[in-house]
Amino acid sequence: MPSFSVYCNMDIIFATHNEHKTIEARNIVGPNWHLKNLREIGQTEEIPETSDTLQGNALQKAQYVAEKYHANCFADDTGLEIEALDGRPGVYSARFAGEHCTYADNVNKALAEMKGKTNRKACFKTVIALILNGETYYFEGRVDGHIAEEPHGDGGFGYDPIFIPDGYEQSFAELGMDVKNKISHRGKAMAKLVEFLNSVQ
Ligand code: IMP
Repeated sequence: MPSFSVYCNMDIIFATHNEHKTIEARNIVGPNWHLKNLREIGQTEEIPETSDTLQGNALQKAQYVAEKYHANCFADDTGLEIEALDGRPGVYSARFAGEHCTYADNVNKALAEMKGKTNRKACFKTVIALILNGETYYFEGRVDGHIAEEPHGDGGFGYDPIFIPDGYEQSFAELGMDVKNKISHRGKAMAKLVEFLNSVQ
């Protein structure tokens, strides 16, 4: 049985330290592209994300890696936009409850701010920036849903336990990765990325 690497046509770096995102992305990209995350290339430091847009942050991360490692690279940035909170936390989703907060802190802050609100509509948006052979490309994905009254499920990460996508009664944390990848913000953006990568391969 040949090793996995025999099947790998192209190396590409996913500029993330998030192992959950890496697993989701590997599941979508398939075996044609050999995907490595930041831990796997030895990049231990966090990459600055100082833009006030998802596109700006995705580009900042992808550019940092492409220039430092002279490699093809993509990065994503995701935001949860809650209608009743005027679109917050949006691009600030990672630090909604403050610097160095946990996923649970963010979930609790969102639930606290949503207490008593009847409009619970929300959406996740993802922008992926790809730098391939020095050219930049963007891919976007969005999923609409609503914020649950309390956390449900222990799968996924981040705000998954309180996000219920339209057409479902379970949260992303309950639905599991296969369903999430088919309908999620990042799943849709990744599908567009993969279609593009396969077209240029
Ligand atoms: P970033 O794209 O890693 O900067 O994500 C910003 C924030 O959104 C972090 O707190 C993540 O945990 C959260 N987040 C990103 N993607 C998802 C997702 O697929 N489900 C739930 N939360 C997410």
